[in-house]
Amino acid sequence: MKGQGSANGSDGSGGYDLVVVANRLPVDFSVGADGEVDWQRSPGGLVSALEPVMQGNDGAWVGWSGAPDLAHEPFEADGMMLVPVTLSASEIRKYYEGFSNDTLWPLYHDVIAPPTYHRQWWEAYRRVNQRFAEAAASQAARGGVVWVHDYQLQLVPKILRDLRPDLRIGFFDHIPFPPVELFQQLPWRRSILEGLLGADLVGFQRGGDASNFVRAVRRLTDHPTRGSVVSMDSDDGSPGRRVRAAAFPISIDTAKFDELARSPEVQARAKEVRADLGDPDVVMLGVDRLDYTKGIRHRIKAYGEILQDGRIEAANTTLVQVASPSRENVGAYQELREHVESLVGRLNGEFGEIGHSAIHYLHHSYPPEEMAALYLAADVMLVTSLRDGMNLVAKEYIAARSDLGGVLVLSEFTGAADELAPGPLLVNPHDIDGMKDIIVTAAHMDPKEKRRRMRRLRRKVMGDDVAKWSKSFLGVLTAMPTRDTHV
Ligand code: F6P
Repeated sequence: MKGQGSANGSDGSGGYDLVVVANRLPVDFSVGADGEVDWQRSPGGLVSALEPVMQGNDGAWVGWSGAPDLAHEPFEADGMMLVPVTLSASEIRKYYEGFSNDTLWPLYHDVIAPPTYHRQWWEAYRRVNQRFAEAAASQAARGGVVWVHDYQLQLVPKILRDLRPDLRIGFFDHIPFPPVELFQQLPWRRSILEGLLGADLVGFQRGGDASNFVRAVRRLTDHPTRGSVVSMDSDDGSPGRRVRAAAFPISIDTAKFDELARSPEVQARAKEVRADLGDPDVVMLGVDRLDYTKGIRHRIKAYGEILQDGRIEAANTTLVQVASPSRENVGAYQELREHVESLVGRLNGEFGEIGHSAIHYLHHSYPPEEMAALYLAADVMLVTSLRDGMNLVAKEYIAARSDLGGVLVLSEFTGAADELAPGPLLVNPHDIDGMKDIIVTAAHMDPKEKRRRMRRLRRKVMGDDVAKWSKSFLGVLTAMPTRDTHV
């Protein structure tokens, strides 16, 4: 039955050797006027990382279609079996917008926005995690590997282990894991930890996230820990599984992005972008989902003050801010949008002229070709997140700059800063005066120093691509002793 979708025996006879479980499928669904469901591939980082391993391993991907009440049979796309999980409109409100993005997201990002705790949201989260786990259990081959992704699905490893003890289970957390002093606010903290401990390997972006997790396990559960290993001994004291927590910093498809940015079309488009902007002396760029964790307000404030102080000439400078729409039904995101748009309006009113805007604010998503052209057109890239698991925009900017031009200004509070220092100019986005000084330094940096820094950054980024990341995670996971050998 291999490669035949959901028609597996409940013990995993048949089924897929590698099953990825993520909140979203790597496709976008649309329903036509005639009610017909259609889909297109969505080119995300995760899918480019996993596609080759999935194709080489007989893989299936379990995830949500992105639309309410959309039921669809498993189907094949580019050598992967895609298995849609259906969510009702109410589950989207409570599990996705509610518990995932209005409870866990702010809590895991240093409570930049206040997390909301609702028991009904938690119930929906539990129910939906159960559904994802059941879908994965029905797809995985006996002794297969299941790789669960991100904060939306933290209960899946434990539910899955109870359903299918024969599986090797990995979990990767794409966002920060908070210090226990914050994590312990969560009324369901113990269930979340037990959920994650259903995995054999729990991966994080930074060593600090892995340590936060192990400290939370030590403080809030009875499981003994030793270094980065948690012992799941049984109540009678007999030794059980070992769970390992470790850092696996994610990356992008660096070679592909590099190649894209070198293409004549993208090079020409970058020149066109600069010309359309009026060929200013300095083009600054911010590229983010419109999310309060990204420090967009802090960045615009610092930029506005620099123009006000006259440290950079307003008539010869432009900030292009791409802010792609995100989670638009969540209140904190709606407030952020209003705030950012009023800041942009104020600054353009004050410093704009006919034919020149201080900020070009673009509330859209763009394809990779356009992003690569924007990166090439930008003298200064501003990544000023207040907290960020990794920040792949920083890595894309570096991968695009084979010309060794451009300066990366990078927040200390990103996973990328842990990896990339000392190449970028590091900033604390809460320190507006400090950030202003760094932005001015970046805008005036001499080409030799730019080249020296970018060369160093590229040495780091070009060697660490996303295929290496998935290979390294799966390598560690599959090399771990199975339950039978270490009990
Ligand atoms: O990295 C965090 C994350 O939630 C990813 O899981 C997702 O790809 C991205 O941010 C965008 O979020 P959403 O799926 O909520 O639009």
